[in-house]
Amino acid sequence: MSAVYLLLLLVPTISAQTFRFGACPTPKVQSNFSLQLYLDKWYEIEKLPASFARGQCIEANYSVRKDGTIRVLNSQVVGGKREFLEGTAVVPDPHEPAKLGVAFSYFTPYSPYWVLETNYTNYTIVYSCTDILRIFHVYYAWILARSPSLPPETVHYAKQLLTDEGINISKMTPTYQNCGNI
Ligand SMILES: *[C@@H]1O[C@H](CO)[C@@H](O)[C@H](O)[C@H]1NC(C)=O
Ligand SMILES: *[C@@H]1O[C@H](CO)[C@@H](O)[C@H](O)[C@H]1NC(C)=O
Ligand SMILES: *[C@@H]1O[C@H](CO)[C@@H](O)[C@H](O)[C@H]1NC(C)=O
Ligand SMILES: *[C@@H]1O[C@H](CO)[C@@H](O)[C@H](O)[C@H]1NC(C)=O
Ligand SMILES: *[C@@H]1O[C@H](CO)[C@@H](O)[C@H](O)[C@H]1NC(C)=O
Repeated sequence: MSAVYLLLLLVPTISAQTFRFGACPTPKVQSNFSLQLYLDKWYEIEKLPASFARGQCIEANYSVRKDGTIRVLNSQVVGGKREFLEGTAVVPDPHEPAKLGVAFSYFTPYSPYWVLETNYTNYTIVYSCTDILRIFHVYYAWILARSPSLPPETVHYAKQLLTDEGINISKMTPTYQNCGNI
């Protein structure tokens, strides 16, 4: 995967993303990460803008397929209907289990999916950053939860953690999570 290819891939959408000059920061990630405990459904509480997820009531469900690969089923409500997008997660380095990669098609590279901190039962703080030619980087961050809302103090805690890791979250926005049974 060449950097130039990445650049060509990202440039058309870059204005909708969050980027900064310089290389990606390297935040601390969840130690002793357990994918088993991480599986199942998460609700998106807040995120830094991502052009591929503009809908409402965004959810992700992680599960293990029969062949052992990790299934990622993202969904969002657009125009009153829930749309699904299936992808695959990988753990490129077993020594760093909290540093996952997620791809939604055979033709796109795996994007980093780093679990900075989770307690598995309530919240997870996820960060994704890609260096572009070492000149600038594009990044995303998500606060996800096991329920459609989190206590404000937990959201505040998550944002403080991101900020302490040098991640500018000034453009982070809450995700609407009140779609009823859609
Ligand atoms: C890591 O997790 C495993 C299983 O979840 C547990 O048995 C072990 O004690 C943990 N180790 C540390 C250092 O937390
Ligand atoms: C998540 O996906 C798995 C596998 O498809 C499914 O068994 C499970 O019911 C789903 N969980 C939720 C909460 O939708
Ligand atoms: C997980 O986080 C929630 C919210 O911060 C907290 O109330 C709960 O005690 C935590 N659970 C564990 C097992 O640490
Ligand atoms: C954390 O999750 C547990 C288990 O789902 C739940 O009982 C508890 O109320 C949650 N705590 C907070 C602060 O959300
Ligand atoms: C965060 O980014 C915003 C613009 O998106 C900028 O105005 C602000 O100064 C930045 N904060 C820090 C601490 O770099």
